[in-house]
Amino acid sequence: MDTNQVANSLLMHRGAEADLYLSKVGPWKAVLKKRVEKKYRQKDLDAWIRRERTLKEASMLGEARKAGVRTPSVLKLDPEEFSFTMALIPGKLARDNLDTMKPRAREGLFEDLGHQVGQLHHRGIVHGDLTTSNLIISEENIAYMIDFGLANYSLEAEDRAVDLHLLKRSIVTSHNFGTEKCFKALSKGYTASLGEREAVSVYKKASEIARRGRYFAIR
Ligand SMILES: Nc1ncnc2c1ncn2[C@@H]1O[C@H](COP(=O)(O)OP(=O)(O)OP(=O)(O)O)[C@@H](O)[C@H]1O
Ligand SMILES: [Mg+2]
Repeated sequence: MDTNQVANSLLMHRGAEADLYLSKVGPWKAVLKKRVEKKYRQKDLDAWIRRERTLKEASMLGEARKAGVRTPSVLKLDPEEFSFTMALIPGKLARDNLDTMKPRAREGLFEDLGHQVGQLHHRGIVHGDLTTSNLIISEENIAYMIDFGLANYSLEAEDRAVDLHLLKRSIVTSHNFGTEKCFKALSKGYTASLGEREAVSVYKKASEIARRGRYFAIR
């Protein structure tokens, strides 16, 4: 999609670094994510950063999918336009949906999500911004991870723990349901896919992070 097509597309969301447009690839609904210019950066450097981040995000989405994580598939990549196009995931953001879900369905969703995060970590990837604003819940109550803009390769327990911690923190701070059963279900799924030994070392780090008080303490 070239710049003109962007101009004719429907703006869905204006993010911190990118604009997202409703788009189409063949008959399929799609989302185009285009990194916008930052005037405070020197022009060439800015273009380089936006190209690199576009390439990295698209590649991380692809890697996560290969690991069996539910993410939108990348349909087009256009680094020279600082954009990529991905499949549209129909559903609602977890942020807007979790509170009204039935408790059983919510617990099931968290176990499955734990499983997915475990698969992602097993593949050596951390999401980096795992919050309820970066999860879409489909009509079948299945979670899809989006926004791999801060994803990285890491096998470090600390980086993995940050993913779990951010997710829990985003739930505790902005949601209104009993979290105990959901967090248990999350851990169950995570342990099942990452394996007991590695999962335990991540939980230890997550408690350390909470204790250090860098973030809110979460039990
Ligand atoms: N594949 C997709 N299918 C459906 N909606 C999507 C998809 N990708 C992104 N969105 C919508 O666009 C919003 C912003 O996407 P994303 O989080 O990737 O951008 P961002 O630039 O990181 O935004 P922010 O800075 O607000 O986090 C999402 O919250 C979601 O509502
Ligand atoms: Mg986001």
